[in-house]
Amino acid sequence: MKTVKDYIRTIVDFPHEGIMFRDVTTLFADPRGFRMAIDQMLHPFAGQEIDKVVGLEARGFILGGAIAHQLSTGFVPIRKKGKLPGPVISEEYQLEYGEAVVELHDDAISAGEKILVVDDLLATGGTAAAGIRLIERLGGEIVGCSFIIDLPALGGRKKLEAMGMGVETLCEFDGL
Ligand code: PRP
Ligand code: MG
Repeated sequence: MKTVKDYIRTIVDFPHEGIMFRDVTTLFADPRGFRMAIDQMLHPFAGQEIDKVVGLEARGFILGGAIAHQLSTGFVPIRKKGKLPGPVISEEYQLEYGEAVVELHDDAISAGEKILVVDDLLATGGTAAAGIRLIERLGGEIVGCSFIIDLPALGGRKKLEAMGMGVETLCEFDGL
């Protein structure tokens, strides 16, 4: 039987030379693959109290919407700078070259709400760490962070675990 990892396509030298891009569109496009990914991301959190699912732009929106629907919770997006229409709080994080900013509506999460964070891929953990800081600034209590892919060479899991996070991933790829 095919595993989640088997549905993920690798594109060599995208977006630039030397990068092996792990493309989840082939997983999302397959009815069995997509359901398997959502079910497996949910599995570790079965029976836990969750008020909201937070998805990280952009592929975290696709996963987070499906997971929130399954859990009958609300869905909240964390977006790149300048995309959210209402009042926001912001956090910076480091990219390979320079910095980026993610934002969260300042009324999207209430203090004490239980939050599940989802995205497609954990690399350096910079994006997720910035998202976690945003959620915690609003008083959200993070139940866990769930990703399809872990790139262990980039250290994201260790970074998030050092912040006290529980980290769940479905598969790993070597290298960058
Ligand atoms: C990718 C991926 C994660 C993030 C992981 O998103 O979808 O969100 O990088 O990297 P990190 O762990 O090193 O922070 P990207 O920033 O390329 O943007 P996109 O999802 O909007 O395409
Ligand atoms: Mg992303």
